[in-house]
Amino acid sequence: MGRTLCAGWVRFRSVPDCAELRGVNQLMETILAPFFVYPRGWRGRLGGRLMESAHADQERWAIQRPEVAPGARVLAVGYGTGQGLVMAAEAVAPGGQVIGVEPSTVMQQTAAKRCAAQITAGIVVLREGCAEHTGCPDQSIDVAISVNNVMLWDPDAGFAEMYRVLCPGGCLVITAHRRVLRGSPEAIVADAQAAGFRDARVVTGRRGPAKIVARRAA
Ligand SMILES: C[S@@+](CC[C@H](N)C(=O)[O-])C[C@H]1O[C@@H](n2cnc3c(N)ncnc32)[C@H](O)[C@@H]1O
Repeated sequence: MGRTLCAGWVRFRSVPDCAELRGVNQLMETILAPFFVYPRGWRGRLGGRLMESAHADQERWAIQRPEVAPGARVLAVGYGTGQGLVMAAEAVAPGGQVIGVEPSTVMQQTAAKRCAAQITAGIVVLREGCAEHTGCPDQSIDVAISVNNVMLWDPDAGFAEMYRVLCPGGCLVITAHRRVLRGSPEAIVADAQAAGFRDARVVTGRRGPAKIVARRAA
């Protein structure tokens, strides 16, 4: 019987289901985690550089959503090296603010250097945090953005936190490479709906990165 093997983030379909291959999968995840999943040390810095070029189009797509407008309060979840923070800071000016939460110290440091001017100006605020614990007050955010990290969330806690911090009418914008998702894009929609987002949908076709938008009722 065939199954899908996820070697780290790369999926091979219909490979034989056997203990050895499950072992390969776990080994690859262990090897790749310090580069891309929980970036640490030199591997995290290198992984960050690779992610930047690979994810730029997704960051741009998220920032170009009409909700990311002047004056908006944006929450950037798992921002990585922070290229999306810079784009978001430009989009919300004047009057808006971008709050970034990221659990990796090396990513926090990289992003803090990149956004030094915006941090000094008070447009960008960076905190240690994650999707499940953002530290944001209830209903304080207009748009929450997650690029290539939704598969790392505890789905129940992560979506509940997004729902809690978004203001009525606020919007959660998610994109991730399909091959890194643990399930289908529709499964992400289901997780969002379970947390209370009545209006949640996949906004892309069957190819390219998965893109999901979930809105809290006004
Ligand atoms: C694949 S990287 C993506 C980084 C960036 N968003 C990008 O697309 O380049 C995943 C990032 O999510 C962060 N992360 C891991 N677990 C997380 C969680 N539970 N909530 C938010 N971010 C998380 C990691 O530290 C890492 O920086």
